[in-house]
Amino acid sequence: MTERLKIEHLYKVFTDKPERALAMLKAGKNKSEVLETLGQVVGLDEVSLSVPSGSMYMIMGLSGSGKSTLARCINRLNEPSAGKILLDNEDICTLDEAGLRDVRRNRISMVFQHFALLPNRRVIENVEFGLKLRGMSAGERRKRAEEVLSVVGLARWAYNLPHELSGGMRQRVGLARALATDADILIMDEAFSALDPLIRTEMQDELLRLQRTLSKTILFITHDFQEALKLGSRIAIMSEGRLVREGTPQSIVLEPGSDYVAAFTREVDRGRLFDAGSVMTSLVTILRSPNGIVLGDASGEPGPGFMLDADERILGTVTASGIELARGGAMPQPDTRFTCVPAHTKLVDVASRYRAGGPIGVTDDAGRLIGRLEAGQILAGIGAPGAAGAHHVN
Ligand SMILES: Nc1ncnc2c1ncn2[C@@H]1O[C@H](COP(=O)(O)OP(=O)(O)O)[C@@H](O)[C@H]1O
Ligand SMILES: [Mg+2]
Repeated sequence: MTERLKIEHLYKVFTDKPERALAMLKAGKNKSEVLETLGQVVGLDEVSLSVPSGSMYMIMGLSGSGKSTLARCINRLNEPSAGKILLDNEDICTLDEAGLRDVRRNRISMVFQHFALLPNRRVIENVEFGLKLRGMSAGERRKRAEEVLSVVGLARWAYNLPHELSGGMRQRVGLARALATDADILIMDEAFSALDPLIRTEMQDELLRLQRTLSKTILFITHDFQEALKLGSRIAIMSEGRLVREGTPQSIVLEPGSDYVAAFTREVDRGRLFDAGSVMTSLVTILRSPNGIVLGDASGEPGPGFMLDADERILGTVTASGIELARGGAMPQPDTRFTCVPAHTKLVDVASRYRAGGPIGVTDDAGRLIGRLEAGQILAGIGAPGAAGAHHVN
């Protein structure tokens, strides 16, 4: 996967003369030691990360950990003290005024927690704001704004004033404004943090829905681990200006790697985080017997195998003796009382559909068998006490 945005060894010290602080940080001193010795505030301490194209990448951490500083460095609202910010392989830190203006207008859009809508301008004019700076004609601007307002579900509010909208709807206007610029990178800094829980959930769902078709590269900043888990394809966790853990939501919950990160993961409902595909045993052998019977199973696994049709869809399970029969060219009678779930099914839902007895077949979206799950794997994935060792995923 290509990387849209790559950050290499980025430092930010809030001072005009960062040399001594940088030397201390590079020698292994931390933010509080620098503050104590030099009286200088460290915002970022050697942050490196890559944001894959089209992904929703989360920056998560407690208040004051450096998340906003990172966001602001990316479009140079904060001037980095050292390091590189590569946007499509071009270092933003070396851009001149004109280059920077192009980045801010056309390539990176920001949505803030509290962004100001112009109170006396209609919703649509607020969305058009920014497009004028790009030199778009009035007609084009209106058309574009109408498009994005309907994308975020606000078409019928286009000619209302901001105060006539709810908080959640106003936040949608902010999102629409960012989408209107057509920038390929969106930075959302605590964009949903000020919203009521219900509206916030709604906005998260909305963003996930939008992202399925837009496939923007989104850097989403939040102090809420649950939000990071829900939205992120990857999460970078910050503490004291440092990046302390980076990975998929599942891998971070399974292996936090430090007490700081583990503290966030304690309350996580694993059954809702993990899906069947992330804990299943992949199917490694499919036997095609001479008489057209297809048998799928994970090699070396005891217990019954699956009998499949020619499209690798499950017909039923067959016992070990049935498999022998099939090998010999006979037609075993499949047991059709099997459980089968698509790979994206969350473990809580797998558990509720499970019928005691056989293995669970895991299929792709086309219904083809791709793996199997045992009851023990479901329990381990959910994190039930006494369950067998956790499965490594990444
Ligand atoms: N303009 C600034 N001048 C001095 N210190 C700042 C400035 N902006 C942020 N900081 C400090 O940098 C650190 C990181 O802040 P910030 O990036 O806003 O954290 P977060 O967004 O994770 O809450 C904090 O210690 C904060 O006090
Ligand atoms: Mg912040």
